[in-house]
Amino acid sequence: MSDQNPTGPLTTESGAPVADNQNSQSAGAGGPVLIQDQLLIEKLAHFNRERIPERIVHARGAAAYGTFRVTADVTPYTRAKFLSEIGKETEVFLRFSTVAGNLGSADAVRDPRGFALKFYTEEGNYDLVGNNTPVFFIKDAIKFPDFIHTQKRDPYTGSQEADNVWDFWGLSPESTHQVTWLFGDRGIPATYRHMNGYGSHTFQWTNEAGEAFWVKYHFKTDQGIKNLTAAEAAELAGKDPDSHQRDLREAIERGEYPSWTVQVQIMPVAEAATYRFNPFDLTKVWPHADYPPIEIGKLELNRNPENIFAEVEQSIFSPHHFVPGIGPSPDKMLQGRLFAYGDAHRYRVGINADHLPVNRPHATEARTYGRDGYAYDGRHGRAKNYEPNSFGGPAQTNRPLWEPIAVTGYTGDHEAPSHAEDNDFVQAGNLYRLLSDEERDRLIDNLAGSLAQVSREDIVDRAIENFRKADEDYGKRLQAAVQALRG
Ligand code: HEM
Repeated sequence: MSDQNPTGPLTTESGAPVADNQNSQSAGAGGPVLIQDQLLIEKLAHFNRERIPERIVHARGAAAYGTFRVTADVTPYTRAKFLSEIGKETEVFLRFSTVAGNLGSADAVRDPRGFALKFYTEEGNYDLVGNNTPVFFIKDAIKFPDFIHTQKRDPYTGSQEADNVWDFWGLSPESTHQVTWLFGDRGIPATYRHMNGYGSHTFQWTNEAGEAFWVKYHFKTDQGIKNLTAAEAAELAGKDPDSHQRDLREAIERGEYPSWTVQVQIMPVAEAATYRFNPFDLTKVWPHADYPPIEIGKLELNRNPENIFAEVEQSIFSPHHFVPGIGPSPDKMLQGRLFAYGDAHRYRVGINADHLPVNRPHATEARTYGRDGYAYDGRHGRAKNYEPNSFGGPAQTNRPLWEPIAVTGYTGDHEAPSHAEDNDFVQAGNLYRLLSDEERDRLIDNLAGSLAQVSREDIVDRAIENFRKADEDYGKRLQAAVQALRG
């Protein structure tokens, strides 16, 4: 990629030399502007079309390229080629983001951070579209649009409203675990480099013999965890709205390449049915005592994108981009996401988004019979555009990427199955009890500061009740703190 414009005469988009780039053509020196001024019309029209729709969530972000290196033998669990040998390296692209803010919003805010990772493997691109939190607010994709509406701008006020946020959380008790996480110290990372990443969902790995395992991914920052207090963040967000983006770019420019230690938790499929928690419930973790994380690799970021629009704004990540040996679990959130991202990409970037340099496979090539559409570059030349055909070309492998799972029962609007120790509060309570006294103080302060802005008592009471169900002391302290603020 070039870092300089070419020399020679300035031209129009069609290559004709430009005589004057300062003055538009007009009928006489003081008269109206002429429609024959191709340059003026082309410049204004191109300018009007510079933006594509911003991501409906995670609009604000920053990204970098890097390398993933395998450090352990995981061939007993997966046949994915990029994981097949200790020492093997794969190019990656990682986009970090906040969730609720618009494209131009500040980085230093209380919000989960996206951790969207693309592995450019020799068997196609593998995308792991995670967050910096191991759990999420809800456990069924059907609630996602409602949830996000409460995080975004109110249809009347045009601002984010504490009423909407807390109304939804209070009425969705499964959010209590993630809300506890969000209002704790890790709710505002100091930078993108000083936080962990998680695949969050449970995924399927399958080995060469066709045995399946359930896995969860963890990316532990080698920079150490660093967070901002609410007061520090408020000041930084005002002084330097681009703080996270700047920090990442500058660290890489200085040669201080951020890295993460990659771990997985592995559950044999036979244990899933009787595990004490539903292993596909995104509001729950698998406690490390049950399934200890095993180190499998190192992730390093070492190259900044050259052009933010081309490589970051137009980048697309899909939970449906799997490679042989890796697949989905029946987690209802993940299942919804398998649809949502490709659909968003077709709307936001277009039907040929997969073929842009940042998105296409780098270690293999896409071989499809898909053709045409907006911005098609003709890369297939005159080759036949149907299959089967008698003229040669790519053919199916007859080997699915992942193994089938057994299902039973009737179709219907089912709640996900509840296991022996499942309820909406148990892990939120465990997390609260794990915190130090100072961490609990800050958690209560942060929650109370937000809850005190709610206009209706019933919404406040319902929200506090969820924390009380997680831990009696948690609810009691929060109630007192909110009362103190509301007077
Ligand atoms: C059913 C629930 C969900 C739905 C329907 C959903 C949908 C979406 C959509 C439509 C986008 C914008 C994609 C684009 O325009 O390129 C997006 C972005 C994103 N989502 Fe989700 N999401 C869901 C849950 C989650 C969860 C649970 C996580 C993390 C564990 C997550 C992580 C992300 C990230 C990191 C991005 C930004 C990707 C990027 O950097 O381009 N989402 N989501």
